[in-house]
Amino acid sequence: MTIKDFNFAGKKAIVRVDFNVPLDGNGNITDDTRIRGALPTLKHILDQGGALIIMSHMGKPKGKVNPKLSLGQIKDAVSAALGAPVQFAPDCAKAKAQADALKMGEVLLLENLRYYPEEEGKPVGLEKGTPEYDEAKKAMKASQKEFAKTLASYADCYVMDAFGTAHRKHASTAVIADYFDADNKMLGFLMEKEVQAVDNVLTDIKRPFVAIMGGSKVSTKIGIIENLLGKVDKLILCGGMTYTFMKAHGGEIGNSIVELDKLDVALGVEEMAKKNGVELVLAEDSVCCTGYDFANFCVKPGAQIKTFPSNAIEEGWDGLDVGPVSAQKFAKAIEGAKTILWNGPAGCFECDDFCAGSRAVGEAVAKATAEGAFSLIGGGDSVACVHKFGLEDKVSYISTGGGALLEAIEGKVLPGVAAIKG
Ligand code: 3PG
Repeated sequence: MTIKDFNFAGKKAIVRVDFNVPLDGNGNITDDTRIRGALPTLKHILDQGGALIIMSHMGKPKGKVNPKLSLGQIKDAVSAALGAPVQFAPDCAKAKAQADALKMGEVLLLENLRYYPEEEGKPVGLEKGTPEYDEAKKAMKASQKEFAKTLASYADCYVMDAFGTAHRKHASTAVIADYFDADNKMLGFLMEKEVQAVDNVLTDIKRPFVAIMGGSKVSTKIGIIENLLGKVDKLILCGGMTYTFMKAHGGEIGNSIVELDKLDVALGVEEMAKKNGVELVLAEDSVCCTGYDFANFCVKPGAQIKTFPSNAIEEGWDGLDVGPVSAQKFAKAIEGAKTILWNGPAGCFECDDFCAGSRAVGEAVAKATAEGAFSLIGGGDSVACVHKFGLEDKVSYISTGGGALLEAIEGKVLPGVAAIKG
């Protein structure tokens, strides 16, 4: 079933969205991209005369109630975005009466699904790999099914529209689908758009294909890097992982972030790129600092800033952005691309002293897009970059997925998609 073909009139729909939005210390939403992303599906259901039961997780409460992660905090924002009143169910597993009483056109938001360990289906408080854990896991799988069945009992149909969480095989993202027949479960509009965008960069590739991967660790990105090396023409690697590459060749990197146990991985990436005929683009210069406050994204009082060659950084200095030579080199590499994937900034873009590299990347992506490229931006930080530099209307697609997008691009089947499509 597809959302376009289903008739929601007179039906209660339970919709899994990803409203895991960032909040400030006062519980205010600092980026509502994910709420806006779900609106086409939610509005479509209401417009057709259906009723909505919205469910999501927020953060990682690890199976316990945590008021700081209550979805009650975003109820008014959801209501404002939808242009409709929103009722709230303070216990997602005990919302049957509220769901039954829901009239067509009405909206019910369930409390954080992850207050229940059954949502993730992992035993809490036991060490992985122990016999106790294995035993508890079996029991948990059974109660996860019960939890999913309870959620399913609230509605006539199920819509999966949480792309950001589609890489999780959780009660609400996958198991619940077992309790609806094929005619009553479907992907939402956001999921369809996201899956299409991934398809554009993985199967419908217009060349040259340039990928820009940032991030502090090679280890967390190695899966996607290896996958991309089989597809792209150029791969720009930037951010903190630069220094693992520099170190692997005996460079001096001062106090910059490095994974000393991954030097061989970095060399392996270079070798694979060579073998596959992929142009690997790394930074040559770095803007460094003697005292950066990572918690507050600012330079500590009295600290100095200076640019060094990326492989000759003096002791006491920390590489925090690519320098002007590299920024130009990256922009040149992006020029003329027809397919672009950008995941991860070039530096600590949150601080204006270290955002020039990411800005140069963003502007080059925007320019190439204006000249006809398809550009896909994903991952919280690169999306924040695009917003910071006012480029949101100048790129082709901004994904709501972080981990989910990376797994999709790695070529993995997302459980949230498989649960619907089989
Ligand atoms: C995300 O923010 O990437 C999604 O909401 C998934 O969250 P998770 O990594 O806690 O499952």
